[in-house]
Amino acid sequence: MVQTLTVLGLESSCDDTAAAVVRHGENGAEVLSSIVHGQNELHSAFGGVVPEIAARAHAEKLDTCVMQALEEAGLALSDMDAVAVTAGPGLIGGVMSGVMCAKGISAATGLPLIGVNHLAGHALTPRLTDGIAFPYLMLLVSGGHCQYLIAHGPDHFTRLGGTIDDAPGEAFDKTARLLGLPQPGGPSVEAEARAGDPKRFRFPRPLLDRPGCDLSFSGLKTALMRMRDQVVAEKGGLTRQDRADLCAGFQQAVVDTLAEKTRRAMDLYLNENPAEPVIAVAGGVAANSAIRSALETVCDEKGGRFTAPPLALCTDNAAMIAYAGIERFRTGARDGLDLTARPRWPLDQTSPAMLGSGKKGAKA
Ligand code: KG4
Ligand code: ZN
Repeated sequence: MVQTLTVLGLESSCDDTAAAVVRHGENGAEVLSSIVHGQNELHSAFGGVVPEIAARAHAEKLDTCVMQALEEAGLALSDMDAVAVTAGPGLIGGVMSGVMCAKGISAATGLPLIGVNHLAGHALTPRLTDGIAFPYLMLLVSGGHCQYLIAHGPDHFTRLGGTIDDAPGEAFDKTARLLGLPQPGGPSVEAEARAGDPKRFRFPRPLLDRPGCDLSFSGLKTALMRMRDQVVAEKGGLTRQDRADLCAGFQQAVVDTLAEKTRRAMDLYLNENPAEPVIAVAGGVAANSAIRSALETVCDEKGGRFTAPPLALCTDNAAMIAYAGIERFRTGARDGLDLTARPRWPLDQTSPAMLGSGKKGAKA
């Protein structure tokens, strides 16, 4: 008999202030509410997230977010079994705002406090949405993250590889900026690429010549800049078709790289003989249909099942934090009021540290 648990989750590690209530029991998990307040309009003039502005906005918004999440769930703090909060990795001011808010709630109500690793929140989402059993392979691809993980348990992950510089979403955003397309860059580049010829410009396929699952995306941006400048020098500007061809070439390079690295990650994962092999993907870049279909093809080739949570739970949210808190709670984990906010917090403590960090802050 599984005890039913209802947990309040808080998330503030980057540029989304979020609170959610999740219930989990015999029949699986249910998201009772999930409130996300983005900060795009606060940062758009600066071309990236400004940590101090983000932290101040989180501190101002968190309590109303919590009240909205409780109201939407039709519950009060007294109905909660615990409060879970992102304690890292992320932009330290934002993480501290969330941790302080959760500590305040815990101190005032006596609710147990659970610090959650933001990446564990993403990595456990397939269990929240689909009840996937351990072990499964996870690819996190967003503006701030890019890594392959085997999830063995709520606190046990093996990182197979990740980006050594930019995250793929960051590369899409920079590409859009270089071509004068609107932000966020992912959807604009994908839309332009539909009318483009992916073979006209020859983009590199970074790190494919090296073994392993590490990735690199910053060279694509440099290649794009060079090709754009060459066209401009020859013709005095870019036509719509030039832009579409550049987008298509760039996107195809990301697709090919992710497909090949996923093939390798899948081989390593299959060595563990999972009963029902699953690869799950999360993060905003998972919205890209060319990337998604390439990953599905690799998964088919290898005899696995492909799953992607709905987009609202793929991108940053607090339901994943509440759910990861529930998983930790069930293992007996509790934190005290001495819980610290951590800018860096690799999920797999045994793998070498990642070299890169994203525009949104060092993630692991
Ligand atoms: O997970 P997310 O909402 O936020 C974090 O980065 O934490 O991901 C946002 C990123 C942005 O860089 C955005 O350009 C990218 O995901 N993205 C896409 C697409 N939609 C969003 N990238 C490629 N293709 C898309 N359709
Ligand atoms: Zn995230």
